[in-house]
Amino acid sequence: MHRTPLIAANWKMNGSAALAQDMTAALNELSQGTTTVVVCPPATLLTAFTNPKTFALGGQTLSHEVSGAFTGELSANLLLEAGATYVIVGHSERRELNFETDALIAAKLSRAVAAGLTPILCVGESLSERQQEKTQQVLARQLDAVYASQPELLANSVIAYEPIWAIGTGESATPEQAQATHHFIRQHLAKFNSQSAVTVKLLYGGSVNADNCVALFQQADIDGALVGGASLKPVEFAQICLAV
Ligand code: G3H
Repeated sequence: MHRTPLIAANWKMNGSAALAQDMTAALNELSQGTTTVVVCPPATLLTAFTNPKTFALGGQTLSHEVSGAFTGELSANLLLEAGATYVIVGHSERRELNFETDALIAAKLSRAVAAGLTPILCVGESLSERQQEKTQQVLARQLDAVYASQPELLANSVIAYEPIWAIGTGESATPEQAQATHHFIRQHLAKFNSQSAVTVKLLYGGSVNADNCVALFQQADIDGALVGGASLKPVEFAQICLAV
């Protein structure tokens, strides 16, 4: 099965309008190939990308509500209106720091798909969960929470495996570790929809950079990356996009 690659940038709470212009210039120089490139800046910067020719834009989270009295929240339609076509859902930082539960993440993902946004669902285990050999158990719980009751959403999803211990630490999972976990995820997804489990794009995230990405991208079940720190450097991020 040939899956076209996807590279996503997660700027988190970083960046500026000037960086949006620099990133646009760097990415627009890339020829429009089969790789999908998505930049997820802070929502206030979405409209600072005035001329994205070779890449798409995404939000970093969304509300599970449609609209209303939810101060500070962002709806799917507001993201769409600002130019986003993708949205990250369930990043570990939001699970931990914003107390997002599996049930809330399932509702958010459902809202994203209903509105026409492509969700990038993040899953991953903590260091202590890995040390206790609970990685598969944690991933199964996170995936079941979203897809067991709404398996049809898998066809419209991208999934990012981000081991929490590899995020922002400079210590990426090894290609072998990442491949083994991606393989488990793909096998597990088959119970929801065997065809979608084959076609769904699985991204790796956690200290990806221009040096370590090539070996990761050579793995059979790794279809791209969700890049944090290195996505704030236009030249390096463009190199990662070219390497996949
Ligand atoms: O969403 C991106 C991930 O949290 C990875 O961040 O590349 O800085 O480790 P990082």
